[in-house]
Amino acid sequence: MSDSNETIAILGGTGDQGLGLALRFCQSGRRVVIGSRKADRAVEAADNVRGQVPGANVEGLGNEEATAAAEIVILSVPFEHTASTVKTIKESLRAGQVLVSMTVPLATAVGDGAMRTVGIWQGSAAELVASLVPKGVEVVSAFQNVSAHRLQHLAEPVDCDVVVSGAKAARETIMELCPLVPGLRALNGGPLSNARIVESMTALIIGLNIRHKCPEGLGIRFTGLE
Ligand SMILES: NC(=O)c1ccc[n+]([C@@H]2O[C@H](COP(=O)([O-])OP(=O)(O)OC[C@H]3O[C@@H](n4cnc5c(N)ncnc54)[C@H](OP(=O)(O)O)[C@@H]3O)[C@@H](O)[C@H]2O)c1
Repeated sequence: MSDSNETIAILGGTGDQGLGLALRFCQSGRRVVIGSRKADRAVEAADNVRGQVPGANVEGLGNEEATAAAEIVILSVPFEHTASTVKTIKESLRAGQVLVSMTVPLATAVGDGAMRTVGIWQGSAAELVASLVPKGVEVVSAFQNVSAHRLQHLAEPVDCDVVVSGAKAARETIMELCPLVPGLRALNGGPLSNARIVESMTALIIGLNIRHKCPEGLGIRFTGLE
């Protein structure tokens, strides 16, 4: 179960997607720590959040300090820097934390296009992350199909389902975060291995955004649920 007093760290929260989540979680009243390789960039991003969300409970720290300060840690760095970022925070991670993998292994990482993904030995970026964390840290896959633009546009809800995958208790903790963002609905995505499907859906969505001329980003909805 998620505890509303738990702090959420967003590593790379200085970028588009992480900043969007920071804004939304702060708007819901949650405490957020923005992490960056450079603490002053994180402080600047936290000031930006406070400017848009008056009274936001937010602070900016280096990635390692941000990790140590939180119960939930969201990795929001490009795929090609994900493994190296996990290695730099390894000493700050501790058993009981939930680490969220949001990254999409777009082929841009190897100089190819954003409309396809690269294969990963472990099966998905989330499983790669899981192979790197200390024992007792649970990795959950979520938010890959949510548009950064829509997250940052605070005046509108974000019309999107979020497929959340991972071990039960940690998955439920992250599923409870989703409805804090108006419009997001969490779906139980089962085991972490399903992340490979969810990650590749983002490459499809990027192609759809281009072909249907939707720079704000499409969302996904599964039908048939109450
Ligand atoms: N943008 C979207 O619409 C979207 C949608 C779904 C999922 N995602 C996923 O969300 C994640 C973040 O996406 P984004 O668009 O926000 O990325 P981004 O803006 O390109 O980068 C996010 C942050 O990553 C850090 N970073 C950059 N180079 C790095 C390096 N060499 N080593 C370590 N950290 C580095 C930077 O933070 P500092 O310089 O402050 O350290 C940067 O602000 C990605 O994994 C992406 O696949 C994005």
